[in-house]
Amino acid sequence: VGATIIDGKAVAARIREQVAAEVHELRDRTGAAPGLATVLVGDDPASQIYVGGKQRASAEVGMVPIDRRLPADASAADIASELESLNADDEVSGILLQLPLPGGSDASSLTALIDPRKDVDGLTPVNAGLLALGQPGLRPATPLGVIELLADVGAELAGAEVVVIGRSNLFGKPMAALALQANATVTVCHSRTRDLPAVCSRADVLIAAVGQPRLVTREFVKPGAVVIDVGQSRIAPEQAGNKSGIVGDVDFEQVREVASALTPVPGGVGPMTIALLLRNTLQAARSHARVEV
Ligand SMILES: NC(=O)c1ccc[n+]([C@@H]2O[C@H](COP(=O)([O-])OP(=O)(O)OC[C@H]3O[C@@H](n4cnc5c(N)ncnc54)[C@H](OP(=O)(O)O)[C@@H]3O)[C@@H](O)[C@H]2O)c1
Repeated sequence: VGATIIDGKAVAARIREQVAAEVHELRDRTGAAPGLATVLVGDDPASQIYVGGKQRASAEVGMVPIDRRLPADASAADIASELESLNADDEVSGILLQLPLPGGSDASSLTALIDPRKDVDGLTPVNAGLLALGQPGLRPATPLGVIELLADVGAELAGAEVVVIGRSNLFGKPMAALALQANATVTVCHSRTRDLPAVCSRADVLIAAVGQPRLVTREFVKPGAVVIDVGQSRIAPEQAGNKSGIVGDVDFEQVREVASALTPVPGGVGPMTIALLLRNTLQAARSHARVEV
């Protein structure tokens, strides 16, 4: 007995392989491989690791990584002109502005400068609006990854009660919109939600994206529910019970006894984000090349 542990690494590896095959085919047909540009401002160590991971992963699937770096004291105008030059560059299919930005630069107004057709993070107002309207566009990678994991485990979304904890623009809101588009009945919880355990325990699919270690305990979970843990918090490795010191929002040991399926942290949602970012870049490249998506 106990929950099926959803293997995000394996699902992500399959998606990356498929993207690699399709990149190869697109290059044969059009003569150009998709280019993925990352823009890193400053030298925050965590951001450097994320950007390095995206560069490496895009090269591995045959894309052309484009690595743009600006000093920590770059002005908003400097960042804007970097984004404009990437918007204008035909070899660039996708643009990622690594957040958070150092100093006083406003991340949302700079993100909004990215050409929506190259916005592979799906964070521009145009793509957020298209998602809200249920129209085609580029969607944020992490919620797309969650949809893939739910499909992999055979979770039916149509008619299901889906509860999302967290309402960020990066994850919670687009996650709710994608679940709604898949015909779920969606509830979004946040820090002002009254009686969080009671609301969560209605869920057939419970998705937690808060950033509070082990917030979701046994009493949050309806027996047989599918639980997706998006949270990533760093704590002392001896408390995390793993070498990385990364833990999720879900108390894994408690919840595995009641859920039907559960993602681990690490190794669940985490690996999906880059895989879906690559798929988004392929989608962007195809629409530039006017090839059917
Ligand atoms: N690739 C990945 O695996 C990936 C991608 C994205 C995010 N994450 C992780 O997911 C977590 C959330 O990320 P985010 O960017 O969405 O974070 P965020 O912007 O900090 O949003 C957190 C959300 O949780 C809500 N919240 C905070 N405390 C709560 C509580 N006690 N009860 C209920 N809701 C509460 C907040 O409510 P209010 O709105 O009321 O403040 C907010 O909506 C983080 O751990 C992050 O590292 C992982």
